[in-house]
Amino acid sequence: MLHKDNCHTSSEVGHAVHDEPAIQVERLAMAFGEGPARRTIIDGLSLTVARGEFLCIVGASGCGKTTLLRLLAGLARPTEGRIDFHGKPVNGPSRERAIVFQDYGRALLPWRTVGGNIALALETCKVPKVEHAERVKQLAETMGLSHAVNHYPSQLSGGMQQRVQIARCLAQNPTLLLMDEPFGALDAITRQGLQDEVARLAQVHGTTVVFITHDLEEAIYLGDRVVVLAANPGRILRDIPVDVPRPRHQLTTREDQKFLALRHEIFGLLEGH
Ligand SMILES: Nc1ncnc2c1ncn2[C@@H]1O[C@H](COP(=O)(O)OP(=O)(O)O)[C@@H](O)[C@H]1O
Ligand SMILES: [Mg+2]
Repeated sequence: MLHKDNCHTSSEVGHAVHDEPAIQVERLAMAFGEGPARRTIIDGLSLTVARGEFLCIVGASGCGKTTLLRLLAGLARPTEGRIDFHGKPVNGPSRERAIVFQDYGRALLPWRTVGGNIALALETCKVPKVEHAERVKQLAETMGLSHAVNHYPSQLSGGMQQRVQIARCLAQNPTLLLMDEPFGALDAITRQGLQDEVARLAQVHGTTVVFITHDLEEAIYLGDRVVVLAANPGRILRDIPVDVPRPRHQLTTREDQKFLALRHEIFGLLEGH
């Protein structure tokens, strides 16, 4: 999926959202604990995500966003309900579904260089060793890390570290990118740069993205759709299509009347819960 990277810009490529579902979630429930301490975190959650769709999920802290993403990744099993990915039940983690965590500091191996961290995914995917150098070079180029391949994570800014984590996920050639508040710890300028980068990559490669954020403007800016979750237990409060033209632009999109109307609507929903 990486070969076309330098040949297209987002404005040349249409945003391809297909009719076939990538993800189908049916009546999902998740509870933790035993006996009187048992708590239902997610209840009766059904959701379909189309192939190539960029879905953003917003909701208050503690409403179950990370739990939902872990379930989609296959890192946890639901108490009830089912999740299908491309028509097959999710039974565990898969290389097709990559997850980017907010905490890039803990996601990277400090004793490995940037190149070494990216190569880790190639090792896991059993890509022949002779191909590693070239693939690492391509991935580093894609994520603007070419000058830092031999640096260690501790020598990089937060934004650069998050780029390494994303490059490592892309090394898996994922069909689905799951992102858990990936830019939450970054400054505004760095965050905007990475938003545009991820939007561009998803568009060029037709990757399905489920992007969790507590920043409603980020959700509208990136999403084809925004799902607003309610808490206690986590469930879908509203599922809102984002009818804002692409390619989006950090200044003009955020001034677009439709963008502002959605911001009002979602702000109201989150305030009410
Ligand atoms: N493994 C776990 N065991 C017990 N409780 C958990 C576990 N994971 C999450 N929770 C609880 O589930 C709730 C939702 O957590 P989380 O999914 O992390 O929310 P969010 O990402 O929306 O902030 C929290 O109350 C949290 O304490
Ligand atoms: Mg979370």
